[in-house]
Amino acid sequence: MDNSTTVRIANRKYHFPLIEGTEGEQAVDVRHLRAESGCITFDDGYGNTGSCLSDITFIDGEKGILRYRGYPIEQLAEHSTFLETAYLLIYGELPDQGQLNTFSEAVLSEAALHDRMQDFYHGFSQDAHPMVMLSAGLNALGSYYIKYGRNKREKELEAFDRIAALILSKTRTIAAMAHRMRQGLPFVYPKKKLSYCENFLHMLFSQPYDEYIAHEDVAKALDVILLLHADHEQNCSTSTVRMVASSGCNLFSSLSAGVCALWGPLHGGANMAVIRMLEAIREQGDNGDRFIEAAKSGEAKLMGFGHRIYKNYDPRAKIMKEMCERVLRVLTHAENDPLLDIARNLEEKALHDDYFIERKLYPNVDFYSGIILKAIGFPLNMFTVIFALGRTAGWISQWHEIAADPESRIHRPRQIYTGAKQRDYIPMDERV
Ligand code: ACO
Repeated sequence: MDNSTTVRIANRKYHFPLIEGTEGEQAVDVRHLRAESGCITFDDGYGNTGSCLSDITFIDGEKGILRYRGYPIEQLAEHSTFLETAYLLIYGELPDQGQLNTFSEAVLSEAALHDRMQDFYHGFSQDAHPMVMLSAGLNALGSYYIKYGRNKREKELEAFDRIAALILSKTRTIAAMAHRMRQGLPFVYPKKKLSYCENFLHMLFSQPYDEYIAHEDVAKALDVILLLHADHEQNCSTSTVRMVASSGCNLFSSLSAGVCALWGPLHGGANMAVIRMLEAIREQGDNGDRFIEAAKSGEAKLMGFGHRIYKNYDPRAKIMKEMCERVLRVLTHAENDPLLDIARNLEEKALHDDYFIERKLYPNVDFYSGIILKAIGFPLNMFTVIFALGRTAGWISQWHEIAADPESRIHRPRQIYTGAKQRDYIPMDERV
């Protein structure tokens, strides 16, 4: 098979090699296009652009496949835990029992925040969004670990094992603290006997003299939510982390930038938007039928539906839907939750409607995750923080892929300029 492609530009032919990934996906390697032809490729939103070679996550959006390091997401959700999967993402292989114990203990032992970091949190306004606190907190955290390298790659890579575990632990602490400060509650430390998610729930919801003990199905659901969000190849926030990392920036600051990118409603903020949408539908006395019509006419957007990559059912949404039914049974002891009923109806109608079928719009991971988080007791503004906590595992592994690559170059896309042509400055008194 010819493994090159030919492009004709202004009557000249250029040959470009084809690159093939392990799952057979192909790319035209245009790295020399500009040097040879003077042209660049134009790909608004990067929908057809591969920005890197990566060993971490494989997605086939047409077939609804998601694998971390080769392992199907369905198997990981059923048999693994968030921490084990984080290890897999970060180190490339599943850990043996000893490796997992060491990793879990490292995460547990790093939970505390320096007193001055705690003071730092008192500087935020009472209404500060927890994503602001998480992003700022991660960036500030790096200033306490300067001896492990401040933008000095060699030192950062030597300290990587410690810093990776530390970040997984301290993002959980920062997330819990952001929530408790808004409630006016003191910080609670994790306990040795509890799992990562049991501890997170304890750190969030335990009251003075009233310890929160998570139901095992609730802790499992939260663990699966983190695991399902742990990585998703070159999405907006991960590309941001890699972009920042490509300049030589440290792990803390690269992740802080990723948190900002994740905050937007078209990305990590969609799980909040789904709940707002479902509540608005309920308040208007609609069962979802009217909303579907509004979405089709362009008046509204069906939040939690559609995906840039999945043109089939998002495999994470299937797992989340089952998990949602189970958690609601445990927490509300009721089969019918009004928001879940509306969500089920929206899904049912959309999956049989030509508008959504033609555009290949299916539920994404956020369609049901918000209902679970709401039932557990998370306020809306914590939803995206939960997403960030899970995605931290993937961001760490993606940062490492760039940091450990001796041939990595600074990311620097080009543009097609469409502004004014050169013109002369006009003095103020001559402007009309
Ligand atoms: N509701 C109604 N129509 C939609 C929706 C939706 N949720 N999503 C896309 N469409 C329509 C668009 O209006 C467009 O219609 P047109 O061809 O008539 O103009 C067509 O489907 C294609 O949509 P695009 O916006 O081009 O799709 P794109 O791949 O750029 O966007 C995105 C993907 C941003 C996820 C979009 O589907 C969306 O906004 N969904 C709702 C927000 C959401 O759930 N985001 C979470 C994504 S998953 C995640 O980040 C974890």
